[in-house]
Amino acid sequence: MKTCTLNLVEGTIVCKCLGVTDVEVIEITRIKKITCLSELKLETEAGSGCTACHKKLKQIIVENSQTSAIV
Ligand code: FES
Repeated sequence: MKTCTLNLVEGTIVCKCLGVTDVEVIEITRIKKITCLSELKLETEAGSGCTACHKKLKQIIVENSQTSAIV
């Protein structure tokens, strides 16, 4: 019997340094109307460590932001 390891409620960690999940990034982007990585860092600290997650964080912001002005 296979065990599903996906946790659809908690999401997948996208910033390993700060332990921030994609679900958290999506929610904060939508709720706070985040438009750039700097704003996301202020809200969650995601991306404040090694920077390896920046590309993925920017992608999530683009996909979930209500504006197209992504820096
Ligand atoms: S993985 Fe996000 S700052 Fe290191």
